[in-house]
Amino acid sequence: MPADKELAGRVVIVIGAGSGIGRETALRLVREGAHIVCVDLNQAAAQATADEILAKTGLGIGVAGTGISGCGSAIGLQADVTKRESIRAMLNQVILAYGGFDSIAVTAGIFVPSDTSGHIPDDKWALTFNINVTGSYLVADEAAKDFKAQGLRGSMVLTTSANAAVAKKGSVAYDTSKAAANHLVRELAIELAPLVRVNGVAPATVVQGSAMFPRDRVIGSLAKYGIPYTDDEATDSLTTKLAQFYADRTLTRSPITPADQAEAYFLLIADRLSKTTGQIVTVDGGLHEAFLR
Ligand SMILES: NC(=O)c1ccc[n+]([C@@H]2O[C@H](COP(=O)([O-])OP(=O)(O)OC[C@H]3O[C@@H](n4cnc5c(N)ncnc54)[C@H](O)[C@@H]3O)[C@@H](O)[C@H]2O)c1
Repeated sequence: MPADKELAGRVVIVIGAGSGIGRETALRLVREGAHIVCVDLNQAAAQATADEILAKTGLGIGVAGTGISGCGSAIGLQADVTKRESIRAMLNQVILAYGGFDSIAVTAGIFVPSDTSGHIPDDKWALTFNINVTGSYLVADEAAKDFKAQGLRGSMVLTTSANAAVAKKGSVAYDTSKAAANHLVRELAIELAPLVRVNGVAPATVVQGSAMFPRDRVIGSLAKYGIPYTDDEATDSLTTKLAQFYADRTLTRSPITPADQAEAYFLLIADRLSKTTGQIVTVDGGLHEAFLR
């Protein structure tokens, strides 16, 4: 018999799995044999990622002749990280489906741009903090009850940003929320020790494959940086230009992809970094302004 895959028998909840970095992380972890609970505010998107995994692995519910019991290699669930009862209901579903869970990655996040004068309305400030900070806290606070009841070692990975360390014009709410998320990682690492390790991934400028960079935002950024483009240019071409512009500002000079990010979640969720907790791993191509001090 071949050796078990590294994450065989593990149940990993990926919140934000409907798009971008979360989707890629779900696909990465399943390659290592994990069972993935794909969770998103957008139910259809969560289910689409789960379906993609089931199509790849062929390990779905009721697949005759596979000998697979339970729920197979993936399920898709809806949850809103800003609502404690929604998180609780989701975790209860996971427990019904798989009997428990081992790890949670939270990639759900939002970037609400300031208006053209650089001002952000109060409700947008609140929404940014609700999702980017309170959301991760609520997930950890609810999951802590289950981690404790299970008595098993686990891992949580939150998502912050290079912007947590670099102050910028026009993104005051987002940047401040991500700085808070960095410290939330450290606080939770202490709260959830010794059973659960809590770390963060700090991505930067994943333009391709992310819903955070819709065409309008890409065009706005190209205009801001004086990069030539035409209004009828294909979105792919526009995002490639912006991704390369961002890449040229980094030490490693290559566009950063969701797959680059997924690798960091894998390392932190697997046992490879089993003595690391309370830390932020940056996947930003090398941005010296964002070096943590
Ligand atoms: N893309 C980048 O360049 C970049 C840079 C730095 C940090 N990040 C962070 O990485 C994370 C993922 O970014 P992405 O590029 O994959 O974005 P994305 O917009 O493609 O995906 C985010 C997902 O989170 C989900 N979500 C939003 N609000 C939610 C809620 N209340 N409850 C549950 N799910 C919710 C969305 O439906 C979406 O599917 C975010 O936290 C983001 O701040 C991204």
